Amino acid sequence: RRVADAADVADLRLLARRRAPRMVFDYVDGAAEGERSMARAVEAFDRVEFSPRVLRDVAAAPTAVEILGRRIAMPLVLGPTGFTRMMHREGERAVARAAERAGVPYTLSTMGTTTAAGVAAAAPGGWNWFQLYVVRDRARTLETLSLAREAGMDVLVVTVDVPVAGARLRDVRHGLTVPPALRWRSVLQAVRHPAWWFDFLTSEPLRFATVNGAPDDLAGITNLMFDPSVTVADLEWIRSAWLGRLLVKGVQRVDDAKELAAVGVDGVVVSNHGGRQLDRAPTPLELLPHVVAAVGDRTEVFLDGGVRSGADVAAAVALGARACFVGRAYLYGLMAGGELGVRRVLDLLHAELVRTLQLMGVGGVAELTSDMVRIRER
Ligand code: FNR
Repeated sequence: RRVADAADVADLRLLARRRAPRMVFDYVDGAAEGERSMARAVEAFDRVEFSPRVLRDVAAAPTAVEILGRRIAMPLVLGPTGFTRMMHREGERAVARAAERAGVPYTLSTMGTTTAAGVAAAAPGGWNWFQLYVVRDRARTLETLSLAREAGMDVLVVTVDVPVAGARLRDVRHGLTVPPALRWRSVLQAVRHPAWWFDFLTSEPLRFATVNGAPDDLAGITNLMFDPSVTVADLEWIRSAWLGRLLVKGVQRVDDAKELAAVGVDGVVVSNHGGRQLDRAPTPLELLPHVVAAVGDRTEVFLDGGVRSGADVAAAVALGARACFVGRAYLYGLMAGGELGVRRVLDLLHAELVRTLQLMGVGGVAELTSDMVRIRER
């Protein structure tokens, strides 16, 4: 099967599983500890029930929305993912180009494997954002910010749900290192995925754009680098140092959302990092309406976690999200077929969103309202 034949994101996930070595696939597909947060995020979308209108003119179902003062083609943001050149040699560049083509923002991670300037050069017409982890060395954080700014990035997403690394047990069991090492554990994988290893060994060595030193396991790097003592005071410091828009990603309580709105952030992302940090975290789709009710009039509210289809996007937007971030959905496409795979994902999500709107009797994303969605008990 080819990328073009994939009927949905689940098909691309299966293709990705075949193309990438197991430990690479599992780094993307897995989550923390018992993987409950991730499973629940997906399962909440399964419980969505739409309440469609009939006999409405749905000949056109425009998907464009305005977020942070700028129009985008659909309520979708490609979220930050670390180490993206491990999934495909084109990595961040491929994702940024696909986002540019689809007219949606792309977010480069602090743990990215391409520089901000590299992303800007790959997708000069795209709306490229930067995601920040505050590291122990504050001078380095400032330097990272100015590199992003120089590359034209004007939206900063500060991720706050990683005071320490989550325990991704699949990675622990595979002995995943960064970069992946060809060792006895991975020899069998290499034999079964020769094309991936060939690509990997012949492309520019994988290094984090913002990490010095000899990398090894991801949790080790994270704990070495990240500062677990970051507080709202640091956020106020970033607010003053950053001239562009500021979002905070990883908000999991209504009271925290209120505190952030008071600091004057431009938006919050209701997220538990795709279940990769705290297991048994609140389920984003269920928490969303409460956060929207509390701060939606003061700040823009986004959601991520478990979004795998355009119908999922419609549900989240109906419940008050300005847009959804996605992580794994585009990474499955990237592993399955590089830039073409990411394009396929974005085309599918868009087509699914349009079709869902039309079948809901809604003449455009702007007409989605919360009374059109119910989250069933089970
Ligand atoms: C992530 N995520 C993430 N978030 C972030 O702020 N900085 C990062 O470097 C990363 N890295 C990362 C790597 C991988 C492989 C994944 C899957 C995720 C979290 C990401 O931005 C987003 O919150 C989740 O992926 C959302 O859940 P879904 O869409 O994957 O279900």
